Amino acid sequence: MRRLAEIRVNDLHFHYTPGVEVLRGISLTISPGAVAIIGQNGAGKSTFVRLLNGLLKPTAGEVLVDGVSTRSTTVATMARKVGLVFQNPTDQLFKSRVLDEVMFGPLNLGLSQEEARQRAEAALERVGLTGAADHNPYDLGLAERKLVTIASVLAMETPVVILDEPTIAQDMTGVRQIGAIVTWLRDQGRTVITITHDMDFVARYFDRVLVFQDGQVLADGPAQAVFAQPDLLRRAGLEPPQITVLGRELGLPDPPLTVEAFVAQVRDMAKNGAQ
Ligand SMILES: Nc1ncnc2c1ncn2[C@@H]1O[C@H](COP(=O)(O)OP(=O)(O)O)[C@@H](O)[C@H]1O
Ligand SMILES: [Mg+2]
Repeated sequence: MRRLAEIRVNDLHFHYTPGVEVLRGISLTISPGAVAIIGQNGAGKSTFVRLLNGLLKPTAGEVLVDGVSTRSTTVATMARKVGLVFQNPTDQLFKSRVLDEVMFGPLNLGLSQEEARQRAEAALERVGLTGAADHNPYDLGLAERKLVTIASVLAMETPVVILDEPTIAQDMTGVRQIGAIVTWLRDQGRTVITITHDMDFVARYFDRVLVFQDGQVLADGPAQAVFAQPDLLRRAGLEPPQITVLGRELGLPDPPLTVEAFVAQVRDMAKNGAQ
């Protein structure tokens, strides 16, 4: 069993420029499981996750990972617990060979070449990039570069994995692959926190949804409950998945999150109606 981690955020405030608060008092606890963060551009999502792994330090309040404040820990120590895949892969990639890029983290943890290589190969397989191990990351398209950065973080085997907009630029296969990774991490009892604008992706793969608006958390709950509040979502500039809207318009009792759930409910109603 892997180590579990608990993240506690207490009245977190942050600004880049004094007087311009980007995070305005966030308090929550994140336990193992799959957590999605949604919200408009500029709401503070990327800033929030950079505070979770200690790249940024709170300007007020605190972030505790397993009881230890990010203020009193080095970024290197935090990197063993909280892995962060940046929104923009260019900010993360710096080696000229994919395999070296993915081995870099494990080598930094002090693993041998052999162990690091094994971890890197397993991570590349998981993101579907086994064939690209010898490529230069910069010769790959954006979607694949993003997958390389995901592999780099998976190879660290951290209890917490944060993905900042992993589905951007992905085709359907890529989105499914990332969904499978989210489910795999969650099933191992790890924490996977994902920022995304893809509401269908959220509905299908995540247990808990945090809605960010203007540096605060507007809603926090199960996907089913959050997507059942269209007015609240609208305030955050978001819309529920289309299938949820359709189910609600048809008057289904539980707003369905996926096509499968929609079909199951309609079949159920038809069966009951026929009796
Ligand atoms: N490095 C930075 N320096 C100054 N302001 C920044 C920086 N990064 C982000 N911001 C500002 O902080 C706010 C929140 O940005 P961000 O956390 O990237 O939001 P999101 O990820 O939700 O789109 C925005 O107003 C953005 O312009
Ligand atoms: Mg962002």
